[in-house]
Amino acid sequence: MRKIIAAGNWKMNGSRTMTATLINTIKGGLAKDCNCEVLICPSFGYLSLACGLLAGSPIKLGAQNISTEASGAHTGEISGDMLVDLGCTHVLVGHSERRALYGETSEIVAVKFEEAQLVGLTPVLCLGETLEQREAGETEKVVEQQLQTVIGRVGIDAFERSVLAYEPVWAIGTGQTATPDQAQKVHAFLRRTIAAQNGSIADSLRILYGGSVNGSNAAELFAMLDVDGGLVGGASLKGDQFLDICAAA
Ligand code: 13P
Repeated sequence: MRKIIAAGNWKMNGSRTMTATLINTIKGGLAKDCNCEVLICPSFGYLSLACGLLAGSPIKLGAQNISTEASGAHTGEISGDMLVDLGCTHVLVGHSERRALYGETSEIVAVKFEEAQLVGLTPVLCLGETLEQREAGETEKVVEQQLQTVIGRVGIDAFERSVLAYEPVWAIGTGQTATPDQAQKVHAFLRRTIAAQNGSIADSLRILYGGSVNGSNAAELFAMLDVDGGLVGGASLKGDQFLDICAAA
């Protein structure tokens, strides 16, 4: 049985006040019997504050990006060791905004995945096709290439300590959620791709769906066989919405 994950990607949003308010709302509102794993990923500048606020709570802390380098002359970058030092246990790698806006290729994403694991962070590997690619019938080809490039670098065994997130680019921030069937189809494909290389890793690997998840659609998405939770953008910035998503899990 795979435990559902409700993960919030705050992207470049927030302030010290908002971080404190949102974390206190989530901490206070999370049901004691909540059966899911909760992860929040604030911007780098608020990780330390978030870590302090989360002390003693089961909510986990993740970053949104990691350098390909371990240390040194890389102005503006943040290393895996620094993220661990700031209290992170997870890090997103390969988010479509990083791929599209900051030129991250699958090869770069693979190095980031490896760097994360080298310091003991759990990488959350994001994959997904654009609308153009979906309409051209290339969804499976695109996500397979994104996945295989990482497997090619780190090996299949590394996926035992990772999470996948299928985030169709056309569903991100658009309000146009993939239907549960559309999500399930791609999730099942990803799991089959992993299973062809290691069955037990495929069985235990959590595959999250991301793209306009909210308090109203989370339950039907999470009910799908291969959907093991959500990576949530906009709705994770609203305490009540995020708590509804956690409850749906
Ligand atoms: P939205 O939930 O705002 O569509 O964003 C999804 C996302 O990109 C999470 O990483």
